[in-house]
Amino acid sequence: MKRIFKILAYATGTVILLVGAFALYVQIKGVPYYPVEIPEAVKTLKVPTDSSHIAEGKRIASMLCRECHYSTETQKMTGTFRSDMTKDLGEIYSLNITRDPTHGIGGWTDGEIYYFLRTGIRPQTGQYVPPFMPRFPRMSDEDMQSVIAWLRSSDPELAPDAHEYPPNKYNFFIKALSNTLFGPLPMQQQPIIKPDTTDKVLFGKYVADGVIGCFACHSGDVMEFNEMEPEKSGNYFGGGNVMLDMDGKTPVNVANITMDKETGIGNWTEQQFADAVRFGKKPQGGMLHYPMTPHAALTETEVKAIFAYLKTVPVIHNKVERFKGNEQEAMK
Ligand code: HEC
Ligand code: HEC
Repeated sequence: MKRIFKILAYATGTVILLVGAFALYVQIKGVPYYPVEIPEAVKTLKVPTDSSHIAEGKRIASMLCRECHYSTETQKMTGTFRSDMTKDLGEIYSLNITRDPTHGIGGWTDGEIYYFLRTGIRPQTGQYVPPFMPRFPRMSDEDMQSVIAWLRSSDPELAPDAHEYPPNKYNFFIKALSNTLFGPLPMQQQPIIKPDTTDKVLFGKYVADGVIGCFACHSGDVMEFNEMEPEKSGNYFGGGNVMLDMDGKTPVNVANITMDKETGIGNWTEQQFADAVRFGKKPQGGMLHYPMTPHAALTETEVKAIFAYLKTVPVIHNKVERFKGNEQEAMK
């Protein structure tokens, strides 16, 4: 008996030591660095800078970047404090992405921006950026180039501005995750072609999963995400993921948007869906709540295609307890 206790004591001691060593390692190492391997074709990338690419990039960025990087104070893309992130993740600021060469990204090459948006690795240093800043591994090369064309453009929101936040300090939790579960995404080796709008279902999947990333909010737990193959995410489009309101505290459950008639949107018409997605209007009246922001810049064709795609997604029966906040305050 005594021997067993001794063994147990040693085992426990070893575990405590290992955990302690890991904690120390993580604390000292911080967020990891990776080798920067930019393919030659990306290194020399020069995106087209004609007005139609810039306009398309602006449209995409209005749904993908502006929400986090636009500051009402400077009225430019100088970054903001991310108040909707829980304090467990530390104090996180999105950064200055204006054309300022020192404080913004004016000094980055087109290829560096491309590489960063695909992988989440800072091209200058190899530092891994945790996914407070989303990555876009499935966006077509064409759309990605449009976004970069816009970032390079003379849009007043991108005019050089010296406003600067200090680099983000990651807390232990984020450092630990970045050394274990989190990591950068692989750089794709083949061109990513945008599907043709005539293939409604494929195009809808592209917009929902490849561009806007509806699945990233609308599936189950964040830990069950599959960024490279979204349809393999846990509870794909079945909702249940818990997000936070602007205050970083109030939980807002994400809706089930599979076609389940009882717990999803199986009874919705295409028009009701389009009004919800583009303008935040609920069919029964009232407005959808943050973080379901209106995607007014989506075209009719895109919204209808997403609806067509959702009709092909396996139905999940999952009743989600919905947020009952102040409707007047919703969708500010
Ligand atoms: C959900 C919020 C969010 C969205 C959406 C978002 N970003 Fe970010 N972005 C961040 C945060 C937070 C950081 C800082 C990450 C860090 O350093 O820890 C960041 C950092 C960056 C950086 C690096 C800046 C630097 O100086 O290191 C670039 C470039 C960038 N974002 C571009 C974009 C573009 C382009 C889009 C749209 C396609 C976009 N971001 C969408 C939150 C966001
Ligand atoms: C940042 C996270 C996020 C993203 C991205 C997002 N949603 Fe949502 N969505 C939510 C949340 C949270 C709700 C629930 C809001 C509420 O209860 O008021 C919601 C609600 C909805 C609803 C209403 C469902 C119902 O039963 O009332 C629809 C439809 C919807 N989203 C479709 C989409 C589509 C399509 C996309 C992509 C174009 C998308 N969402 C992107 C978070 C998101």
